[in-house]
Amino acid sequence: MNTSETRVLSVESTNPDPAVIAEAGAVLRGGGLVAFPTETVYGLGANALNAAAVVKIFAAKGRPAHDPLIVHISAIEQLGDVVQTVSPLAKALAARFWPGPLTLVLPRGESVPLNVTAGTQTVAVRMPAHPVAQALIGAAGTPIAAPSANTFSRPSATTAQHVLDDLGGKIDLILDGGPTTIGLESTVIDLISDPPVILRPGGIPLEALREILPALEIQPRYLEDTAASSPGQLLKHYSPRARVLLYTGDDPETVLARMIDQTSKLIYEGKRVGVMLVDEDAGVFSELVRADIAVLGSEDDLSTVAAGLFAAMRALDARGVDVIAARDLGREGLGAAIWDRLLRAAEGRVIEVR
Ligand code: TXA
Ligand code: MG
Repeated sequence: MNTSETRVLSVESTNPDPAVIAEAGAVLRGGGLVAFPTETVYGLGANALNAAAVVKIFAAKGRPAHDPLIVHISAIEQLGDVVQTVSPLAKALAARFWPGPLTLVLPRGESVPLNVTAGTQTVAVRMPAHPVAQALIGAAGTPIAAPSANTFSRPSATTAQHVLDDLGGKIDLILDGGPTTIGLESTVIDLISDPPVILRPGGIPLEALREILPALEIQPRYLEDTAASSPGQLLKHYSPRARVLLYTGDDPETVLARMIDQTSKLIYEGKRVGVMLVDEDAGVFSELVRADIAVLGSEDDLSTVAAGLFAAMRALDARGVDVIAARDLGREGLGAAIWDRLLRAAEGRVIEVR
């Protein structure tokens, strides 16, 4: 069962201490749970080939069993251990984007327990680039199943403190390698469907994947009924406790005006209002002295916005806001992943401003 005490060990993110990594590897080999940094978000790892260890992941997160896990490898040779066949397309994508924030859904290899894949004959595989993740997988001597290291449906964890806040007392060990750099999860691409399709936009933008798959599209799952979509594609996801008000529209100025109008009203009604803003919007909002403002960075630098998004949701939640307002930042590059996370945080409700 889970331990009552969670140890936290610091590691240098670029050059982790082999003794600490060896200790964490031993916990994984012993069937325990270790949270660790990847370049996207923190992962909650267990030995992917040990069904009993994998069960503990679902218990610690409160994650439903129908939501499959990503298997993490540290060397391309390990891919053959966890999948049935490696197509030329999978090889090409791996060669171009691994290690990195890309997850490939492939035919499940027999050694992978069915609780990793939620009973399906497919398995999601990723080779993370983070030196701590790579060293840990190497030390464990086995592929590692790891979802994001947050309580189910909460914003993903981008620092060790976020992991501790959600999972303290429920897991054995947290490797603290500092804040993650990308800040939102990997792009998940389904290579079994024909044509292949992006199931979750993430750290590798659609535009980059089109170098190899020119006709690739993002599956518009969030426009569909949640019950009908694939396992784990739940709309309610990455949600702060506060209700998220997500604004979109063709003209950013009109959108901002509506945001200011509605959030001011809420403040007059006595609500505590949080706002996630880009630098460009911050000045206009200075009137709203009683709003709790999280500035995410410039609209022209979406990688910084992405890196701080989940942390901002958590920080505003911690301040006890009733609502969090945010606006659409477009769909280009990382914009698609940012929009996806905002939309899920808002549980699919969008305020269209015309
Ligand atoms: O960046 C990431 O991907 C992070 C780090 C820790 O690697 N992991 C992560 O895992 O985000 P998780 O469990 O929070 O999200 C995994 C996503 C879910 O949307 C799940 O439905 C999808 O991958 N997935 C996993 N296995 C799948 C499968 N066999 N078929 C389709 N989708 C799958
Ligand atoms: Mg997750």
